[in-house]
Amino acid sequence: MPGHRSGQSWPDSIRTRLASLDTTELAATDDLHQPTGPALAAMDLAAHCFGAGRTWFLTNGSTGGILTLLAGLVGRGRKIILPRTCHLAVSHALALLDIEPVWLEFSRPVSTDPLGFLPVVAVNQIADAIALHPDSTAVFLTSPDYYGRCADLAAISLVVHQAGMLLLVDEAHGAHFAAAPGHLPRTALASGADACVQSAHKTLPALTQGGYLHVSESLMNQDPRTAGRITAALRIFQTSSPSFVIAASLDFARAYLEKHGQEQIEKTLVSIQDLAMALWPDYLISPATATPVRGEVRDPLRMVIRQREPLALPATQLALELSLHGIDIELSDLTRLVLIPSLDQPGHDFERLRLALSAWLKKPQPDRPASDVDVLQLEQHWLELLVQPPEMALTPGSVLLEPVDTEIVPLISSAGSVMAQAIAPYPPGIPLLLPGERMDQARLDLLLALRDNGINLSGVDHDSIRVVV
Ligand SMILES: Cc1ncc(COP(=O)(O)O)c(C=O)c1O
Repeated sequence: MPGHRSGQSWPDSIRTRLASLDTTELAATDDLHQPTGPALAAMDLAAHCFGAGRTWFLTNGSTGGILTLLAGLVGRGRKIILPRTCHLAVSHALALLDIEPVWLEFSRPVSTDPLGFLPVVAVNQIADAIALHPDSTAVFLTSPDYYGRCADLAAISLVVHQAGMLLLVDEAHGAHFAAAPGHLPRTALASGADACVQSAHKTLPALTQGGYLHVSESLMNQDPRTAGRITAALRIFQTSSPSFVIAASLDFARAYLEKHGQEQIEKTLVSIQDLAMALWPDYLISPATATPVRGEVRDPLRMVIRQREPLALPATQLALELSLHGIDIELSDLTRLVLIPSLDQPGHDFERLRLALSAWLKKPQPDRPASDVDVLQLEQHWLELLVQPPEMALTPGSVLLEPVDTEIVPLISSAGSVMAQAIAPYPPGIPLLLPGERMDQARLDLLLALRDNGINLSGVDHDSIRVVV
């Protein structure tokens, strides 16, 4: 996990005591579901650090947090406005809770960015969706996205609140934002969001599955039922024995962020800037500054690296090469690598990365892309289809939660079939088709081309998929 570098980011007092922290609900340890003592104190400290009215520790990641937010603050059978580019956990929550999605519309061609594949949602898209669906309960957005690009949540929250709706944010990739407001984008809460979830293990020294669910002070004051509803939903979606080891790491991560976050972030930003300069112009590396570029704010700690054009090979090949040098990347799409430096990433690791990237340029590379599909054109096509809903033949809930008959068919002959499970090209793992949606020829051709360019297809096993009979 990038957050703690195999435990190297932890002091011995944590690293060597993980087993002894694995306790249960005792008088001295408190109860994570009904905290009144030390667990409550730790969550209160987190609420203060992250600028929340109240914080809950998540021991089942942002996945459990998203289910909890949608169950606790939206509720069954309601309607929410959101983009198609959400994490799979959101689709599962919609299915389980029978929530109707209003997909945001993107004008075509969908604009992409050399350093960020996914489109950033704009305030006018939200306003249009609200005007068409004033009966929605909430707007749900992911910000920052996997590439560190942030939506203008401050402007969006005004529009959402004017319509009497809630703004809920998947801030899975932004748990570190609170530490260095001068250097990093404003947090979702500081931008007016009503509630958000964060995966601590992605960017902070916390164990995998560690996350925070924050509710804003204004929502806590406005609706006194909020705390009870979140607590009740957490009891449904988290184990009845939440891990104290994970909870302790969440408490440590908060303390680390408060004590060392600013200093470490400043150091890391200098390392990223030096690397970007050393590799220019062979590689384009995302700017190590939160100053808006063309009006867009991005997380300067999220390193997005792109080889200069023309691309000889999809970036997935470069990712494989880096793994041979012991460098683990967060993801690679067709043209970019995304890396998450830990807050305490040593300088020599950046030097190792520089050497590996320089060595790659010296390797003989073919003049043409690996397949005969132009990589940039393929990427644009992918994006267009990613944001557009295909035909929905059945609701995701009826396919996932009712005993429907399914069969396995070869991917190549699946045009016209209704999906029994989500199909998500990975990375970045955003579903192209949800359960109940119908495969069309355009999506099938795209999936085959992505597969040929080294993108894994989650939901496709040995070139076969499960469909509804
Ligand atoms: C944007 C986003 N949201 C939610 C999740 C789920 O987070 P977790 O792994 O903490 O459950 C992820 C995980 O990759 C993610 O990238």
